[in-house]
Amino acid sequence: MTTIEQIDALEVLDSRGLPTIMVRVLLDDGSVGSAMIPSGASTGTHEALEKRDGDAERYGGKGVLTCVQSVKTEIHQMLKGKSPFQQAVIDELLITLDGTENKSRLGANAILGTSLAVARAGAASKKIELYEYLGGFERVYLPCPMFNVINGGAHADNGLDFQEFMIRPHAATSFSEALRWGCEVYQTLKKLLKKKGYAVNVGDEGGFAPDVASNEECLDLLVDAICQAGYQPGSDISLALDCAASEFFDAKKKLYIEKKKKAKGKSFQERTPEEQIAYLSSLLKAYPIDSIEDGLAEEDWPSWHKMTKELSSKVQIVGDDIFVTNPRFLERGIEEKSANAILIKLNQIGTLTETIDVVESARRAGFRTVISHRSGETEDPFIADFAVALRTGQLKTGAPCRSERTAKFNRLLLIEHLSEGSARFIDSNREALSSS
Ligand code: PGA
Ligand code: ZN
Repeated sequence: MTTIEQIDALEVLDSRGLPTIMVRVLLDDGSVGSAMIPSGASTGTHEALEKRDGDAERYGGKGVLTCVQSVKTEIHQMLKGKSPFQQAVIDELLITLDGTENKSRLGANAILGTSLAVARAGAASKKIELYEYLGGFERVYLPCPMFNVINGGAHADNGLDFQEFMIRPHAATSFSEALRWGCEVYQTLKKLLKKKGYAVNVGDEGGFAPDVASNEECLDLLVDAICQAGYQPGSDISLALDCAASEFFDAKKKLYIEKKKKAKGKSFQERTPEEQIAYLSSLLKAYPIDSIEDGLAEEDWPSWHKMTKELSSKVQIVGDDIFVTNPRFLERGIEEKSANAILIKLNQIGTLTETIDVVESARRAGFRTVISHRSGETEDPFIADFAVALRTGQLKTGAPCRSERTAKFNRLLLIEHLSEGSARFIDSNREALSSS
């Protein structure tokens, strides 16, 4: 029987130059698996805890040596001798060892790092690809990428309150074609921005971060870039938003306030939840948007239900901060009809098994699932394999720029290549919209 021999860890860097954890699992047959853990900036309140050292002498308190130590001692001792192939057993042991509701004792970063590295070691031992190990040997389904080409919110130092302006090349016939379309629009957008005198430096997720005047100006630029690149906005390539509205919701006043515009001394809007829904609805009428994530704040549950009632036949309503990849919040969302899709981030919940369970529960309830990166990423492409294995049909992993983002796209190109022409490209959002 193959067993876990050693679990090791070290402190490495993420794409923001902040420390994160790498876990390495060594099996007694010599196989090795490793994983690095990403980190969010606009995190949901109820996410599993990302543990930091808090030692101001190192990395401004953001070191992860405590997590590294826990992996090398407690976690190593518990998992040594266990089978790497029983992922659910491993993850349950990790959850029990931690003993807290939000994984705050050991840290979700230490726990997830171990969980993912065990899966990788399992795949290495079986000498198969990770997506096959996790998803079986059926036909390969490659997800529609959502390219975040203009960054705002907590991811960029500009006046945009909405966090992500994305393009979705849903009418492409293969993943590589979708990627090419996305890249062509991205490069065309760069030229357009330059022509208009805007800076073309990029934000945390590789999208441009121009100091444009409004959301509408961003959306106009995207429509122009799609046309000038030779595609039809809407029928070839649609638009998508992540408003990350928790970041600009004033819970006391119950108002959505354009805080970044306000801080920059620009004219800004304050909207009640009803006005915010009406505003999103007006954007849907004016632009070919087919997906809106976090259009409302995580604590504004009643308004989510209203938004879904009004808009869900026209658009995918994705919950990120409101659900935080947690079965409890997803269950409430299903019951209250708060959305029709869920964003899936492994480090919001903290183990591979729990994440798979959330994807399956969402699917059973007819919710679409979008696998997602974090704004602070690493070159680890785990989510690319994960999106293929779970056949989610949608993946959000930034712009086609910056190596921590392209690592995921390049991994999907390799998976497509390995499938020797048998891979199918799917967009679960378009499939659902066209059948509704
Ligand atoms: P985060 O942003 O990784 O900073 O939380 C991504 C998102 O909100 O989808
Ligand atoms: Zn989000």
